[in-house]
Order: sequence, then structure tokens, then C-alpha cells
Amino acid sequence: MCMITVLGSINVDIIIEAPRLPQPGETVVGLAYDLMPGGKGANQALAAHRAGARTMLVGAVGRDAFADTALVTLREEGIDLTHVQRSMGFRTGLASVTVDPRGNNQVVVASGANYEVSAANLPEGSVDRWKMLLLQMEIQAGEVEKAVSLCHQAGGRTILNLAPALPISEPTLDAVEVLIVNEIEAVALAHSFALAGSNPQALAKALAERRGRAVVVTAGEKGAYLAQPGTRVLHFAAPNVSVFDTLGAGDAFVGAFAAALDAGMPLIEACRRGVAAGSLACTKAGAQAAMPRMPEIEAMAVQLVIS
Ligand code: RIB
Repeated sequence: MCMITVLGSINVDIIIEAPRLPQPGETVVGLAYDLMPGGKGANQALAAHRAGARTMLVGAVGRDAFADTALVTLREEGIDLTHVQRSMGFRTGLASVTVDPRGNNQVVVASGANYEVSAANLPEGSVDRWKMLLLQMEIQAGEVEKAVSLCHQAGGRTILNLAPALPISEPTLDAVEVLIVNEIEAVALAHSFALAGSNPQALAKALAERRGRAVVVTAGEKGAYLAQPGTRVLHFAAPNVSVFDTLGAGDAFVGAFAAALDAGMPLIEACRRGVAAGSLACTKAGAQAAMPRMPEIEAMAVQLVIS
């Protein structure tokens, strides 16, 4: 039976609405703030679940009050949290998020308990040829590498969202079925391969040719680019939506994308659904609260233009 295991981060997001994002050394005064569940691993697990996948999250939180805030939505939605551990030494991960009136954000993350998340926490049977492993870079890079290797050896499918774009070994990058990065991450990764440029379409192409496998570059309001070696890059235009905040939009893309692939859909359909989910996530506040559900995603996905 198909299933997605997410090995990744769980955070509480402290979200401050500010008149603008601060410069280095500057204090900007906002008014309202909120505490919300977040973390790229948790967000993507929820996004995949709402997009129709059976999902398990493997991660860690602290033994503090923030742990409940971090897990509340995942628990309510029935995501399998059996393998979320309670750290003895670290607090629950925390993200300080500032959002400006245009919906742009600035995020700083304190890893906390996410630092202890290990590939060894993956339960027996969670990686095999019928299952998909979904990873991001908010746990230690070495553990991502080990998890990819385990999954690869077991014949499972892996998707790596290289967010943030931390250094990672080339064999790991080569082993994952699909690599997903945003424009900033694409530039950083390309730079590490001595590839120049900042055009997302060209970067998607260059990275896919280099890796010999599929690369998706998400590009905010420009949509997303899907590149596969030896073929033309496809562009998925993002629909016009009224943006509240873009927090978690990338996670919505990745979760819906993974759910589509896990359900046996082709890459093109997965990208179409990813762009729809990412766009819908921008229309609401916060990360997890904004994750769209299957009917909304499908309704928007059919309207998207691919060129
Ligand atoms: O991708 C958005 C997420 O990044 C936020 O929820 C925050 O926790 C950071 O991990």
C-alpha cells in the first residue's frame, strides 16, 4: 500500500505582522503576533495528507508547552505521529517569522529538538519499494544523507526538498528521484556545482542535466519549472491569487506534489497540483492553517496553463 513517510522538522512559528521586513541592525515595530504550528517537515506532512496521501511524520519535539502547539493540527488531522520523539535535552524547534503587508516573509529557525532527528528513527518497514520518503533540510544534513541511502537500498522513492540549501553530498543528490528547490536554493546549489546564472528555467535544466534526474524549481508568482534530462523544460504558470502571506507555500507545493506521485500520477500532474496547492496556501495566514485540501487543489489544478 502507498504511503509517504516524512523525516523532518517540527516547529512552532512565532509570526509577527510588521510594516516591512527589517534591515540588518534595524528594529521594526509591528502590532499583532501569533503562535502557530510549523516546520517544513510537519507542514509537508500535513500538505500531503490534505492532498490525499496516507502520511507518517518521523521527528522530534521538546518536553515543553510548545510541543503541544506544534503537534495540535497534525494530531487533529490524524497524521501518524507514533515516531515523533520527545527530546530530553532540547526544546521544541522555533521559527521567528516576520511578514510584511505584501505577504513577503523573513524566517530564522532555531533547530532545538529537530537537531536530534535521525535516520535511525525511521521505523522498520517505513522505507521499501511501495513507500515514499520525503525529506527537507531542517534536520542534520548527515541524517538526510543516511535516510536517502537507506531508502535507495530498499528500492523506495525519495523526494528531497533542499530547503534551506545546505551542503549535501553528490551521491545523495543523485539518488533522490525528484529534487525540489526554490529560486534562491537553485542558485546556491548551482553555485556549488560551479554553474552560473539565476534564471530559474535555465537552472532547472542545468541541474537536471547534471544530476541525470528530474529537478523542479519553484518560482513564487512565476509558478514552477519541471526539468528532466534530455527534454524541454516545462513551465507551470501560477494563477492570480490574492496573497495574504507566502509562508508555507513551498511546503504546500511539495506535499501536494509528493501525494500525487505517491498516488501514481506522472510528474506533470504532480507539478500541476503542486502549483495549485502552493498558490492556494498563499491566500491564508500561517503555514499549516493555509494548507489546501484535495477538492480545492483539483479545481485549481485543471485551470493551470503549462507551456
Ligand atoms: O516553510 C515554512 C516553514 O519554515 C515555517 O513553518 C517555519 O517553521 C520554517 O521551518
